[in-house]
Amino acid sequence: MLSLWFLSLFALRGVVAKADADSDLMSFVTLPEIRALKFDIAYYDRPAVSPGYWFVAPYGVIDPEAPTKQWKPCQVGPYIYDADGVLIWAGSCMFDNRNIFDFKAVNNIDNESHLSFILQHGYNSGASDKGYGYILDQHYEPENVVAVTNDLGTFNMHEFNVLDGGKTALACAYRNEYVDLGDLGRPNEYGWIVTGGLVELDIATGEVLFEWNSLGYIPIHESVKVNADWPASNEPGWDYVHVNAADKNAAGDYLLSARFTSTIYLISGEDGRIIWRLGGKYSDFVQDFTFSKQHHARFVDSNATHTTLSFLNNASDEAENEETVSAAMFVQVDTTTMTARLLDRYDRPDGDLTRLRGSVQRLPNGNVFVGWSERGYQSEHSPDGKVLMQANFASTRFSSYRSYKFPFVGRPSQPPDVVASVYGTDETDMATIFHVSWNGATDVASWNFYARVDRQGLPVLIGNTTKFDFETMYIAEGYLDWVSVEAVDGDGNILGTSEIHRTDTPPNWRLAGFQGDAKPAPDDPAILYGKQKAPEEDVEEVDEAYEKAKEEAKEEAKAVNMANEVIHGVGGLLIFILVVCSVGGLLAGIYWMLKQRRMQAYYEVPVVADD
Ligand SMILES: *[C@@H]1O[C@H](CO)[C@@H](O)[C@H](O)[C@H]1NC(C)=O
Ligand SMILES: *[C@@H]1O[C@H](CO)[C@@H](O)[C@H](O)[C@H]1NC(C)=O
Ligand SMILES: *[C@@H]1O[C@H](CO)[C@@H](O)[C@H](O)[C@H]1NC(C)=O
Ligand SMILES: *[C@@H]1O[C@H](CO)[C@@H](O)[C@H](O)[C@H]1NC(C)=O
Repeated sequence: MLSLWFLSLFALRGVVAKADADSDLMSFVTLPEIRALKFDIAYYDRPAVSPGYWFVAPYGVIDPEAPTKQWKPCQVGPYIYDADGVLIWAGSCMFDNRNIFDFKAVNNIDNESHLSFILQHGYNSGASDKGYGYILDQHYEPENVVAVTNDLGTFNMHEFNVLDGGKTALACAYRNEYVDLGDLGRPNEYGWIVTGGLVELDIATGEVLFEWNSLGYIPIHESVKVNADWPASNEPGWDYVHVNAADKNAAGDYLLSARFTSTIYLISGEDGRIIWRLGGKYSDFVQDFTFSKQHHARFVDSNATHTTLSFLNNASDEAENEETVSAAMFVQVDTTTMTARLLDRYDRPDGDLTRLRGSVQRLPNGNVFVGWSERGYQSEHSPDGKVLMQANFASTRFSSYRSYKFPFVGRPSQPPDVVASVYGTDETDMATIFHVSWNGATDVASWNFYARVDRQGLPVLIGNTTKFDFETMYIAEGYLDWVSVEAVDGDGNILGTSEIHRTDTPPNWRLAGFQGDAKPAPDDPAILYGKQKAPEEDVEEVDEAYEKAKEEAKEEAKAVNMANEVIHGVGGLLIFILVVCSVGGLLAGIYWMLKQRRMQAYYEVPVVADD
């Protein structure tokens, strides 16, 4: 008998493995269109990591992709994971698989969690779709969609920095300018350059409240990427500053990071003058550290004389290396002595260089969370530099511009999703398999399962189980129909209720292994699982048969519950099959179900190293 199961198992494994060529992506019964990326995670000190969720936005190619006739399931876009790599929210379908950048939780608007990100401009969409800065509320509904309202070409992909209070945000701004090359000692020659700067935007209207541009402030010869002998450039021009981060302090001054001058600038919010330069060819400070091609510069702390900054020193770019390892850096500049000193440095754990993109975040408990970008590589460090965790996408095909960690509360406006299917060998031997998920919900600890005799019937609680992954499976004795679920938090509060769904039946009962006489009819859950949930009153004369049925149901439910526990503990296909078969399903039924779960086509796209 057992050997037969094993044989069947191997047959099934073959089917699954074949369908599973894109096994670095997750797939779900409840949300079949979503293909979320899996993480590979190594923990070195699990208790020491900070609480919070991961915010990443994987993309395959950095520019908008040409529309193709190939259907691609939802892979690219904003995602939230918990610290074990369990999916919390997939936003990829919401934005039609379009690139999203700088995706993060925003907890500085009011007392509720929000999300912010950049939706990249559309493919060849010209002026009609220049991209947007988005703010979602904790129900995943857009609260603000900030368009480009001035003459800028697109919403720049690097930064959407929502400032405290949520009234304004910073973005980077690139412009093509035709200038004389006097900066390079060639005053009578003209050519194109790409200037870099920042805009402060009114979040409600998109109005540009402040714009600063490198033209007239940062000479071309400050660039580490322009050779003075080069012939003048056509449009768009030399990308001589390549601005990639902007921040604002309480005094109203702006921090601007320019990758191709290897310099971080403090810019006066009053008159736009450069107050100081840190790094690069013309640093105003005596430094005890070096950096170059930096990313994600942020104020950590500042007062009138001292400013603490964080940034990712990638120390190299597509063309050259200045150092041998990229690092998250915390530095302090002192404008009374014009000195800058390194406070903390966290090297990339694998000793490699992050050539493109990245982010650095000091977490509330002092830990440091770093996104190294390529393949979604990210790490968390203790304040004294111990590597507590490192992780990356299982797939080599995707990167994330930045990776963040934040506390977050997600309460989706959509109800939980549930899919139920029934299998059995005959009328007395039936099982209903539930799959349940709730895209975006945090804090779900367990699920309650209900069935009804018909749409108007009272809901009968048929069981509950701990939430153990994005999608939780539950097996219940009997042919249950008109099913629904409740999401329950750790304190027993009900967070949400699904709609009522019909249970899927095999398209052909016989082929699915059913050997009873006629097509089976759904069970009355009240008989199988005891009295109805509500109302509590009038459950008077309970006849003997009912009592007996209840007792039997209880016994069987116990067995099924044990089975559920085992499945959740092991999560293995083998156990799953053995259990389902032993409680009355049939291998053929399972086979049918697995066939239903076949993966959608995946089209590989190359990672393009650009920024
Ligand atoms: C945020 O919560 C605090 C304390 O509960 C309260 O005093 C304050 O009014 C709240 N602010 C907003 C914007 O809701
Ligand atoms: C500014 O910050 C520095 C560094 O934290 C500190 O030493 C200094 O006392 C502060 N100055 C004022 C006026 O608070
Ligand atoms: C730094 O980033 C730039 C641009 O993102 C990239 O071109 C460069 O290779 C990076 N350097 C390192 C050491 O990662
Ligand atoms: C299921 O419900 C029972 C009774 O309300 C409760 O004691 C138990 O903790 C619940 N189990 C889970 C996993 O929520």
